[in-house]
Amino acid sequence: TAVSTAPPITRTSISAEDPSKPCVRILYGTQTGTAERFSKQLANELRGKYGDSTAVDVRDVETYKPERLGSEKLVVMCMATYGDGEPTDNAAVFYSWLLKEAEAVENGDKEPFLQGVSYAVFGLGNKQYEHFNSVGKKVFKAMKACGATALCRRGDGDDDGVIDDDFEKWCTELYEALDKSSDLVGKRADQNGVHAAPPARVAAYEVEVLRGSGGEAPAFPSGTGKDVHSPFWAKITTVRELHTPASDRSCVHVEVDVSGSGITYEAGDHIAIYARNGEAVVSQVAELLGFDLEARIKLALPADADAASGLPPPFPGPVTVRTALSYFADVLSSPHREALNALASFAADREEAARLALLGSPAGKAEYADFIGKPHRSLLEVLQAFPSAKPTIGAFFGCIAPRLQPRFYSISSSPKQHPNSVHVTCAVVRDTMPTGRVHEGVASTWLQRHGNGAAVPVFVRHSHFRLPKAASTPVVMVGPGTGLAPFRGFLQERAALKNSGAELGPAHLFFGCRSRGTDYIYQQELEGYVADGVLSNLHVAFSRDQSSKDYVQHHIGREAAALWPIIGEQGAHLYVCGDAKYMAKDVHKAFVALVEKGKGCSGTQAEMFVKELTDAGRYQRDVW
Ligand code: 2AM
Repeated sequence: TAVSTAPPITRTSISAEDPSKPCVRILYGTQTGTAERFSKQLANELRGKYGDSTAVDVRDVETYKPERLGSEKLVVMCMATYGDGEPTDNAAVFYSWLLKEAEAVENGDKEPFLQGVSYAVFGLGNKQYEHFNSVGKKVFKAMKACGATALCRRGDGDDDGVIDDDFEKWCTELYEALDKSSDLVGKRADQNGVHAAPPARVAAYEVEVLRGSGGEAPAFPSGTGKDVHSPFWAKITTVRELHTPASDRSCVHVEVDVSGSGITYEAGDHIAIYARNGEAVVSQVAELLGFDLEARIKLALPADADAASGLPPPFPGPVTVRTALSYFADVLSSPHREALNALASFAADREEAARLALLGSPAGKAEYADFIGKPHRSLLEVLQAFPSAKPTIGAFFGCIAPRLQPRFYSISSSPKQHPNSVHVTCAVVRDTMPTGRVHEGVASTWLQRHGNGAAVPVFVRHSHFRLPKAASTPVVMVGPGTGLAPFRGFLQERAALKNSGAELGPAHLFFGCRSRGTDYIYQQELEGYVADGVLSNLHVAFSRDQSSKDYVQHHIGREAAALWPIIGEQGAHLYVCGDAKYMAKDVHKAFVALVEKGKGCSGTQAEMFVKELTDAGRYQRDVW
């Protein structure tokens, strides 16, 4: 799981705009940077189309004062959905504000206050997930409920397909709608071929290379660790393998010392870790591009950059190129089209330049899919394949390498037992790609190999995933694989409560792994909790220890007789953590079936019952 690594954009006020000029406000809710990238792309195209006649302002929705919405003429929103149908971190405040306002208008408690505002929404999500684009959908509806007028249909970007194509198609509809609504925008500058296409721009930072010896600033200034704006440099005190040597995969138990920080956490919260690229990767990039790893650099926005669209440099500096490449460049993900396009302009070899330009153009969709999309070719592999393309450092960080994102992990400890230490249970990502490249997950691999004893920037993100208030309320926890993480925290919490004399209600844990002999993580701890009465029922599904698959949902079905009374009559809370694409859906079905059988009702009524549990906060999910 991964917030924009972008250091917070500190611009909070909207710069004075010429009131005589129409203004397009573009707001984005982004978690991994795609909505931000699309918003900037759209802004560039609009600037190309309308030139000076229209002001275009792009911003992180977190820096936007929602009260301004009523005085806008045209707002375009690119909103990503994250996790279990949730808004991205930067959009959370705006989103809940808008939904509340819409509810107030619908209830008749408030006048529709967005009349006269036109809007367009592009949602970003993944069809594999149950709550596909739920944030985009709800924002679209809420704007309408508040009285705003939709300029075109809602766009639904699907990350499971080629989301760039979805966006491009939607933009075409947006432009057509704009052509028909001349009062919303100014005169088109591109008519009569004046600016037939938006000017191709390579967004590059200005780079100052500092000579002589001197200090290096830390990659991140030291903060409290309380939120994304203030990471804390924590020391990793433990990294321990959880799989047995018989396993061909790896999963590590990590302990992060947060003493001295401002961090307070609860079992069920998440921790974000800013890991770094391995040394080999950093050296490869530097060698390919001819960067001096020891040079100290500072980045700045170029003087002619449009202040509203330029993003502040990813690091304040001065830092060495080594630090910059380690912490801020994502070179193991696939490059986007614009990155390839920018790279083309740096290729000295004409054939390489032409091929990169094709891959980066709308006409080269099929080539892009074959060469980049399907084989998951990484930016590093692309640099290797086009050795003559050597961008400057400013361009590399400006528009070629996306920022490395922090990774979020469900915390696997309880502050009642570990007030100064946060535990993480991390599966080490290692996959062989179609090109034969072994893809090693940046964060998990770094934690496994270099984490122990190292300092790492972290911050905590608070969640709603919580044990019931009363220790006596029954709980049913479902967490196969690393989905076990938050429940280890819950069990530590229950153990502490028990020690302080609390009466515990029944607790069922459904855990699943491949085999008893390889990846039954925390086995001794779990069995210890059963022996101590912290866990009343432990159900483990070993999926590969027999010829047919045995999964957690099968165990839920078999335990119906024991589960239904505590769910139907004793107010049990249900929790699911882990894979969202398959497991959480299958477990959901198993719960619905259990209710259907227990209540003796129809499937539809059972669905309704489960929905009521969700609304009452009795069915919570932490899925990814
Ligand atoms: P498998 O890999 O043998 O199919 C943790 O990853 C465990 O979850 C593994 O045992 C894995 O089994 C299992 N798993 C895979 N798909 C699942 C699904 N749809 N529902 C529940 N468990 C699943």
